[in-house]
Amino acid sequence: MEILTGNVNEEKHVPYIEEIKNGYRVTVGKPALHPMMEVHWIEFIELYVDGKMVMKKDLKPGDLPIAEFEVAKGKEVYAREFCNLHGLWQGELE
Ligand SMILES: [Fe+2]
Repeated sequence: MEILTGNVNEEKHVPYIEEIKNGYRVTVGKPALHPMMEVHWIEFIELYVDGKMVMKKDLKPGDLPIAEFEVAKGKEVYAREFCNLHGLWQGELE
């Protein structure tokens, strides 16, 4: 599957990663939260640390498109999310 990306400040599908005390928070939609409706929603969010997928959160319509992952910190961190209409997207920790 093609992995899409873009400017996290403009494109609401790019996962936005923030460091928190015991891991990372991933928000789908930095400029505005991505919809979580019956016809259009984020199915899951995955977190990758140092090349490995370490955690995944499955979501359903009505949930917030946000995941907090308690994981060991790493050097290279990125996240992926899947939108049922718009596909698979990736964003890196800046
Ligand atoms: Fe979408």
